[in-house]
Amino acid sequence: MNAIIPWTAIRIKAAKGREKIVCLTAYDYATARLVDEAGLPLILVGDSLGMTVLGYANTLPVTMRDILHHTAAVARGVKNALVVADMPFMSYQVSVSQALANAGRLIKVGAQAVKIEGGELRVPTVRALVETGIPVLGHIGLEPQSVQTMGGYKVQGRTPEAAAELLRDARALEAAGVFALVLEGIPADLAAHITSAVSVPTIGIGAGPRCDGQILVLHDMLGLIPGARQPKFVKRYAELGAAAQAAIANYQREVEAGTFPGTEHCY
Ligand code: KIV
Repeated sequence: MNAIIPWTAIRIKAAKGREKIVCLTAYDYATARLVDEAGLPLILVGDSLGMTVLGYANTLPVTMRDILHHTAAVARGVKNALVVADMPFMSYQVSVSQALANAGRLIKVGAQAVKIEGGELRVPTVRALVETGIPVLGHIGLEPQSVQTMGGYKVQGRTPEAAAELLRDARALEAAGVFALVLEGIPADLAAHITSAVSVPTIGIGAGPRCDGQILVLHDMLGLIPGARQPKFVKRYAELGAAAQAAIANYQREVEAGTFPGTEHCY
């Protein structure tokens, strides 16, 4: 029997051009086990947990405490995937030393890498993290933590100037040492161009099919939150929210009718 080799940041980086890097978010022990046991190489404890798990309108209220709590739970469920913790808003922006201290706390609870949003501006932070031994996943394009300055969740890089700036950001982050780069909400042709221009893998979300990998929010692709607003780039692979509602209604009916518990459920 072939031994399973756990994924590392170095192995993800080396996968560029060899295999598609299939990634998902997970936020707790149960979802981490589902994703890890499917064999996916990278699990992101995304700050999207602010919306999917905590019920906020955006990612801005998410705290270090939230991400620490959920990263620890995910790490307990994962055997092989690389666990990447998303650094929440204002946990890395104030200073490089603050970013180092907070990233260190995430590593101590089980993350193997961290993700931060931003381009050239983040070069000193990425350098310091990588030099300290903490692998960094970059994130450019639509940066949800900048929703206030972007004026909403808008596709980025549509003008030649904006596209050139994103390419510069990608190259700067590559030189600073990221092991991979999330490209969110940018035109597919620009994502393909950036993918061919950098030596690190690109992981797309709303960035078309010509990235080195893809990531989706688990709750979106499983249809876990009935009636949730769904961006165009999401494909729903299941309707688990509706299935859960049907199961709960069925349980309620059976308890009310006295048909649950049945004799097989009794001691
Ligand atoms: O928070 C998140 O889930 C993310 C990804 C979807 C890239 O940042």
